[in-house]
Amino acid sequence: KKGNYDHFMQKEIHEQPHSLTTTMRGRLRANDVVLGGLKDHLKTIRHSRRIIFIGCGTSYNAALAARPFMEELSGIPVTLELASDLLDRQGVMYREDTAVFVSQSGETADTLLALEYALEHGALCVGITNTVGSTLARKTHCGVHINAGCEIGVASTKAYTSQIVVMVMMALAIGADKISTQSKREAIINSLPDLPNKVSEVLKLDNEMKDLAESLIEVQSLLVFGRGYNYATALEGALKVKEVALTHSEGMLAGEMKHGPLALVDETLPIIVIATRDACFSKQQSVIQQLHARKGRLIVMCSNGDASSVCPSESCRVIEVPQVADCLQPVINIVPLQLLAYHLTVLRGYDVDQPRNLAKSVTTQ
Ligand code: UD1
Ligand code: M6R
Repeated sequence: KKGNYDHFMQKEIHEQPHSLTTTMRGRLRANDVVLGGLKDHLKTIRHSRRIIFIGCGTSYNAALAARPFMEELSGIPVTLELASDLLDRQGVMYREDTAVFVSQSGETADTLLALEYALEHGALCVGITNTVGSTLARKTHCGVHINAGCEIGVASTKAYTSQIVVMVMMALAIGADKISTQSKREAIINSLPDLPNKVSEVLKLDNEMKDLAESLIEVQSLLVFGRGYNYATALEGALKVKEVALTHSEGMLAGEMKHGPLALVDETLPIIVIATRDACFSKQQSVIQQLHARKGRLIVMCSNGDASSVCPSESCRVIEVPQVADCLQPVINIVPLQLLAYHLTVLRGYDVDQPRNLAKSVTTQ
């Protein structure tokens, strides 16, 4: 049921304050996080040699968003695998690995084949899924349901933000016995209950994103530059625009800018730069300066109140978002890009919920 909304994607974007609330429900305690599906396995995970996240599309991007915090809190090397690539290479996997499979549907063929592969190699297999009773939930040793509610739009939106929050909670649970990160850990746990309110705040940018979409209706191509916690936001924002608005868009690591992408910059190609406050902020400021010096058509996403300090000129468009803890910022920053992809699709007259050639659940290789 779409209720007051025109499309499921729109409904699911606006539902995120609620879906995030249900994701966290019953799992937060004073200074602690309890994931019922993992608690008996935390010791094994903490002793693993490596944590490997495996998924496809948006689910992979969610793992990419959570990786920095997972590494920081676990002290264990965290690697990422696109399921198809792991299978193509028959990548190395050990009994001492923890393999975490991320899938909204729990039925994606590549992800399930990668799970078979990891089970054969003796790794501890953990699932993160939105679908109770799915093949992924049944075949993994343990896991966490993201409890985001049914997602119908082919473009994944609310599942992405809930997946990130579950992986952040997983990092908090794994890191419970580490002294050096305790104060940061407690600060994040105590800020989680307010995250849905911050998402409600960022959803107020809806009209602004519609205006931005109007200004982009004719463009053939769009770049999104991010780094650190928001490298994933760049990939995921670009994926949304690509799959529903049928517009070429590419998410890029800003640190790679001078290694090729800079050659594309001119007055016509729109470039979204994510420059919210975190440890990478000053590096992103210098990226903006360099793009401006080459007359790039800039759209900057920054923290509330930072517009004048990050924007080099009047011609630069700004998206101001609320600031939250660095590891949670990707949950906020993706929302304006989801709205942008949605409005661009509607303005162009394409099918929002059923983009051409795509299926909600990719059950064939
Ligand atoms: C569980 C109940 C929830 C109840 C809560 C109360 C279910 C599905 N969940 O939630 O209704 O309110 O206890 O304490 O009954 N699992 C996997 N692979 C996956 C995902 C999950 O093996 O990919 C396993 C988990 O290890 C766990 C079980 O499924 O044994 C349920 O997981 P989850 O719903 O996340 O657990 P709780 O949050 O404890
Ligand atoms: O159900 P899954 O999370 O395993 O699906 C993985 C991808 O097929 C999926 O995220 C796809 O990229 C979406 N259409 C993205 O919006």
